Amino acid sequence: MTTVERAPAGSAGNAGSAGAEAARRRTFAVISHPDAGKSTLTEALALHARVIQEAGAIHGKAGRKSTVSDWMDMEKARGISISSAALQFGYDGTVVNLVDTPGHADFSEDTYRVLAAVDSAVMLLDAAKGLEPQTMKLFDVCRHRGIPVITVVNKWDRPGLEALQLMDEIRDRTGLEPTPLTWPVGIAGDFRGVLDRRTGDFVRFTRTAGGATVAPEERVPAEAAAAREGEAWTTAVEESELLEAMGQVHDQEAFLAGATTPVLFGSAVLNFGVGQLLDVLVQLAPAPAPREDAKGEPRDLDAPFSAFVFKIQAGMDTQHRDRLAYVRVCSGVFERGTVVTHAATGKPFATKYAQQVFGRDRETVDTAFPGDVVGLVNANALRVGDSLYVERPVAYPEIPSFAPEHFAVCRAEDSGRYKQFRRGIEQLAQEGTVQVLRSDLRGDQAPVLAAVGPMQFEVAQHRMGGEFGAPVRLDHLPYSLARLTDRETAKRLVGQSGVEVLERSDGELLALFADKWRLSRVERDLPDAFLVPLVAATS
Ligand code: G4P
Repeated sequence: MTTVERAPAGSAGNAGSAGAEAARRRTFAVISHPDAGKSTLTEALALHARVIQEAGAIHGKAGRKSTVSDWMDMEKARGISISSAALQFGYDGTVVNLVDTPGHADFSEDTYRVLAAVDSAVMLLDAAKGLEPQTMKLFDVCRHRGIPVITVVNKWDRPGLEALQLMDEIRDRTGLEPTPLTWPVGIAGDFRGVLDRRTGDFVRFTRTAGGATVAPEERVPAEAAAAREGEAWTTAVEESELLEAMGQVHDQEAFLAGATTPVLFGSAVLNFGVGQLLDVLVQLAPAPAPREDAKGEPRDLDAPFSAFVFKIQAGMDTQHRDRLAYVRVCSGVFERGTVVTHAATGKPFATKYAQQVFGRDRETVDTAFPGDVVGLVNANALRVGDSLYVERPVAYPEIPSFAPEHFAVCRAEDSGRYKQFRRGIEQLAQEGTVQVLRSDLRGDQAPVLAAVGPMQFEVAQHRMGGEFGAPVRLDHLPYSLARLTDRETAKRLVGQSGVEVLERSDGELLALFADKWRLSRVERDLPDAFLVPLVAATS
């Protein structure tokens, strides 16, 4: 049985102001190309913070303890993590909020939403693979959103690339200057520990069985390290000096401005370097700052409560078919039970049921502060991007939806279950699981589902059958591109082959094209047509 101890939201802060509480918070996400070790690191971080005593309690991956929901079974079977959990723990006087992101590239839209809710990101690289396609996209998204990134080179216990080569790759391909805080002693596959570049000490690691308990880190002064590790130490010192000569030294301002990325080396599976990452997060990662509203005006941390929805998740618990809206608190103090205003509708919303979701575990949240993530239960009216506030109105910027590249017509297998079908489709659209498009021509019984990655369809189909009791058939459509359009242009597109216009559930009109040739043809034939690109998953 796993013991769970955690810092309840705001446990130490009831006396403090929202601003003071925000100052001791770090809200971040771990991001990576799939398989770089994100789930392993998440567990290792929690383990280090002594939230859990033994690794394996968060994601319930295959072979570990089972998870609550049936669609999580799908994640287990595929070895991926679709559902995100927000994890809060206390560490060194700081409240750490780790917002988990889905591992698979098909769910990059979800990852993007999570990145709207964090103040920094930890980018995990596989030492053997370096920068992978999803790594590049995520670095881009972080730059776009101005999120400072801490890079962790993971799996140093296995043969991999040379450390200097990795640094070159980061600088050349991401444009970020890598500023290693630690430097490996021993090549990848012969990991002895790291040189702490800030103190000059050797941090020696000791292996524990399967990395299941917190690995002790022993600090050894430089002279003793030289005697003990010989050439491996000398090489590390020389390379570190080389980095210094090249100006690859941490600079807090440059890091916060998104110009540099501090780098750490470690092995999540063996718990090497994980404690150092936590220390770096506490010391260097930014605390929540006043958030800008849609007009670009920052709302003070001490202003009355405000938050925005960055994720909606349903079907977490098969016993209670509920729906959770995850909000990030931006200002003020959240107090459970307060009636807040839903900015989109102006209607009151009672926050009677508020939870912190930790893997399979849920716990009621009574108080939360800027930077914290709260799961609001049965928040049926809330959509991703919606703002909530008390007293002084605020609307935070919308979270853009990605350009879908896969399209399929969705029909109920059993026409007698149309009511369930409609409810399910509506919910999936609200959650952003898939985008839902319709047209008079196709009718409401045959909406078109649009996705960034095909696995979103699998989740939608699985949930329609399992959760909403309306099994569906999906027929793929031969489109691969979407553009925003208007009614005027839509009229002119009627009858063009390889083009179709549908209305998305948020009211936007989308023109779908078979391929980019079809699109350029239309753009050439109708030069004044209104056809605007959507945010691409790759931007
Ligand atoms: P993800 O969430 O980023 O997709 O990655 P995940 O943590 O599931 O890790 C992917 C694989 O890499 C797992 O192996 C995991 O054990 C391994 N791994 C993670 N960190 C390290 C590390 O520091 N060193 C080494 N050597 N391996 C690491 P798997 O065989 O796919 O799964 P499992 O059965 O071990 O869980």
